[in-house]
Amino acid sequence: MNNNLWYKNSVFYELSVRAFKDSDGDGHGDLRGLTEKLDYLQTLGVDCIWIMPIYPSPLRDDGYDIADYYSVDPDYGSLDQLKVLIEAAHQRDIRIIMDLVLNHTSDAHPWFQASRSDRSSPYRDYYVWNDDDKKYPDVRIIFSDVEKSNWTWDEKAGQYFWHRFYSTQPDLNFDNPKVRDEMLNVMRFWLTLGIDGFRVDAPTYLFEREGTNCESLPETHAYLKRIRSMMDAEFPGAIMLAESNQWPGELARYFDAGDEFHMAFHFPLMPRMYLALAQGDASAIIDILEATPAIPESCQWMLFLRNHDELSLEMVTENERGFMWREYAPEPQMILNLGIRRRLAPIMRNDRRKIEVINSLLFTLPGSPILYYGDEIGMGDNLNLPDRNGVRTPMQWDDSLNAGFSTGEPFSELVQGEFGYQRVNVASQVNDPSSLFRCIKRMIAIRKEHAAFGSGGMEWIDMGIPSVAAFLRRYQDDTILVINNLASCAETIQIPEEYQTNYLNLLGGDLQTLTAQVTLQPYSYMWLEQLK
Ligand code: NOJ
Repeated sequence: MNNNLWYKNSVFYELSVRAFKDSDGDGHGDLRGLTEKLDYLQTLGVDCIWIMPIYPSPLRDDGYDIADYYSVDPDYGSLDQLKVLIEAAHQRDIRIIMDLVLNHTSDAHPWFQASRSDRSSPYRDYYVWNDDDKKYPDVRIIFSDVEKSNWTWDEKAGQYFWHRFYSTQPDLNFDNPKVRDEMLNVMRFWLTLGIDGFRVDAPTYLFEREGTNCESLPETHAYLKRIRSMMDAEFPGAIMLAESNQWPGELARYFDAGDEFHMAFHFPLMPRMYLALAQGDASAIIDILEATPAIPESCQWMLFLRNHDELSLEMVTENERGFMWREYAPEPQMILNLGIRRRLAPIMRNDRRKIEVINSLLFTLPGSPILYYGDEIGMGDNLNLPDRNGVRTPMQWDDSLNAGFSTGEPFSELVQGEFGYQRVNVASQVNDPSSLFRCIKRMIAIRKEHAAFGSGGMEWIDMGIPSVAAFLRRYQDDTILVINNLASCAETIQIPEEYQTNYLNLLGGDLQTLTAQVTLQPYSYMWLEQLK
C-alpha cells in the first residue's frame, strides 16, 4: 500500500503528556517521561500517538487555550526535547500527531492582549468584536454548564468578543487574511520539526455568518482545503484528523473529494456502540453505519470509545441520551454538558466481558481505532475532580508511590478505590496472559496482520438474533467473519449455510468449524478468518 496511506492500517493512542510520565519529579508528566515510555507503547503495538496540547498556556482549558503557538510549555520540556521524542518514536516506527487549535487562542495570548488594548492595533482584527451581544443568535452554546452566551464583554476593549468555548478562549477572526496565513505558518513550524500531522481541534467553527448556526460554513471548508493543499505540497504523508461533532452526512463533507481531511472521528458511531450494548441490540450501530456515506479511498474514519473529554451524547436523540444517562451515569456528578465524564472501565461497571466486547467493536468496525491512555489497563476516573479532569489523572504504571508516575507530588489527585493504582497498573498486567492489557495487545497485533480491518469492505450478516453484531470484513482474498454478542445472556445464532465452514479463530489461534447453530456466551466475540 502507498505509504502515504499509513493511517488506514494504524492503531492510534491518545495521551496527555502531563498525565503520562514525570521524568524529573516536579509532579508534571513531561516529554522526557513520554520518551522513556515509548517502549511500552511499542509493546502494546501503537503506530501513532496523538499528544494533547503542549503549548504554553494558562491552562483554563487544559492547554486548548494557547498563549504561544511556537513553543512548548516549560512544564513539559523544550523544543529540543520534543525533537528527541519524535526521533525516538520514529526509530520505533511510531508517529506523533499533535493538537492544532485553529479556532481560538487563550485570552493571555499577546495577540488578544494587543487586540483588546488598542483599537488601532494590527491585532484588533485578529478577533471577533462587536458593540452588542446580539449577533449570530442561532449559534448554540457548547460548554452549556458554564457559559451562558458566546459573547463576553471586555471592559478594556469596550466591546464584546466572540467565543465558542470558555470565555477565556476568544475566537480568532478567520475573515482576516493575516490570521489565515499565520495558522499556515504554525503548521509549517511543527511539521518542519518532524510532527506527522494534526488532530485539528474544533475545525467546524472557524467562520461566522449572520443567519446561520456558524457551523461547517463554505468559507470554513474552503480554508480547510487550503491548509490541506499546503500539507500535500510541502509535507506529503502528514495527516489532518478532524474533531467535528456532527452527523455522518455533515462529517463526510470534511473529507469531501479526498482534498480536505484524511481522517475524522466518527462521533455518531461512538455513543451507539455503548447504546447497542446497553440495549442488547445491534440496530443502533447498523443504522448509523448505513447512514454513513461512502468516503474516498484515501480517507479513513477514526473510531474511538473514550477520549479526554466527556463521552459526548450530542449525536443521539434526546430519548437515547436520557436512556444512556440512566444506564451509564446514574449519579448527577457523572454528567457534564451533554455527556458523561467517566472512563470506559467504570462505565462498563468494570465488567471485563463488556469491556472486551466493546473493544472488539472498536477494533473491527470500518476505520482506524484510537485508544485513550490507560483504557488498555482498565483505568478508572476520579469524580472528585472538576470538569473533565477526572479522566485525565496520572497513568498508573505500578503499585509504588504515586503509581510510578512521579517521585514528586503529582499535579492531580490519583484515582482511589476499586480502580486505584494498587490494583490497576501496567506492571501487574504486561506479563499476565489473562490481563486486559494482553487482550488489547492481542487484538492490536491481529488487526495489524489483516488489512481487511483497516482497508476492507464490510457486509452485515443476519444471524437471526438482534443482539448479535455479525459482519464480514474483506480485503482482496482475506475474509474475516466477526461475531459479537451484545446481550447479557447466551444466544443461539443461526449460521447461514454459506458461512458453515472452517475458520482460523484469530483470537484463540485454534481452528473452528461453524455449524448450523452456534451458542454464544453473554458478551462473547469471535474474529474468524475464512480458510481458503
Ligand atoms: C475540543 C477539545 O477536545 C476540548 O478538550 C476543548 O475543550 C475544546 N475543543 C476547545 O478547544
